[in-house]
Amino acid sequence: MNTRIFTPQLPEHGMEQLKEAGDIIKAGGLVAFPTETVYGLGGDGLNPQSAQKIYAAKGRPSDNPLIIHICTWDSIEDLVSREGKEQGILQLAKKLANAFWPGPLTMVLPKSPLVPMETTGGLSTVAVRMPRHDIALELIKQSGGYVAAPSANTSGKPSPTLAKHVLEDMNGNIDLIIDGGLVGIGLESTIIDLTSTPPTLLRPGFITLEELTEVLGNINTDPTILNGDSLEAPKAPGMKYRHYAPKGELTIIEGSAKQVVDKINTLAKKQRQQGLKVGVIGTQETVAKYEADCVKSLGCRKDENDIARHLYCILREFDEENISVIYSEAFQTIGIGQAIMNRLLKAAGHKILKFDEEKKENDSNR
Ligand code: TXA
Ligand code: MG
Repeated sequence: MNTRIFTPQLPEHGMEQLKEAGDIIKAGGLVAFPTETVYGLGGDGLNPQSAQKIYAAKGRPSDNPLIIHICTWDSIEDLVSREGKEQGILQLAKKLANAFWPGPLTMVLPKSPLVPMETTGGLSTVAVRMPRHDIALELIKQSGGYVAAPSANTSGKPSPTLAKHVLEDMNGNIDLIIDGGLVGIGLESTIIDLTSTPPTLLRPGFITLEELTEVLGNINTDPTILNGDSLEAPKAPGMKYRHYAPKGELTIIEGSAKQVVDKINTLAKKQRQQGLKVGVIGTQETVAKYEADCVKSLGCRKDENDIARHLYCILREFDEENISVIYSEAFQTIGIGQAIMNRLLKAAGHKILKFDEEKKENDSNR
């Protein structure tokens, strides 16, 4: 299959391209598109065959459900079951939508019979999101209103934040890629499950636990989000897989800035003596202090949004440079930092060295 690339520049240029893209999705094809979080791999959310095609293109297990993307609030009515409406879950969703949609928030709701089991990986719930991105919203409209889309990476790789990442992973396997440049956020949406009481945060993202709590009050957090030792299975099926993984073996080092720099330099030296190529993920404040084969800065620590935006891109760059061992600094787990650490920990298979004994003590008591 020849994968085409469109580069619309809305609102002046590209509406006819998005109409064509919508027709491809309506006909059962696959189109990768930009959102404010990461690129998505879109198919018709109400067509079971489209869901199967998405799983095949990603190499993703079909028990891992897809998010349905919508472009108007009214579309959610068709996706939620009658019981869900009677239980007041839709009212909760409306509250959140008023505060955060369109935007990087996905809500899990009881599904109506309209949603195929193939799309939800066999679950009786459906994840719904309205993205904050002109191209995405227009594409959804042109596709009939319901676009099922996981992140447009091959399963296990970091999510794409540029169209070229999608091309690397999907070339020849999908019909079309819509290039919208670098995404704004760089980490996948926050996921909240509204079917539990109180609601449960399943995946941290740009919309923080603190912001959600302001709107809904008490919210549970899935214990597996930051804890690799948790015996429970994550409630978002996708969170159990080793995601976002670079090819090199990644370890996170946590401690004071000086401890971290010293430790990483010592470890890097040892590995390089054994002939291994070492990469370091630092920040603007520290990059000049590292000695390794490849040192990259995620950005300035004071601007955590910038750090989030660059994380996946940098993990992919290490792959291109055939780095076999990677060390990364750690980040605080409040606000967007919770999402940054969640993704880093998953990329590292939860390998973390903590130097600050006091902090370790506090962490385990939290
Ligand atoms: O920002 C995002 O959410 C991006 C863009 C493209 O919108 N999409 C995305 O999709 O990250 P994906 O498929 O890579 O991640 C969706 C996550 C998976 O972990 C999946 O298991 C979980 O959402 N999920 C989907 N439906 C669910 C459901 N009904 N119940 C619980 N978890 C669900
Ligand atoms: Mg994904």
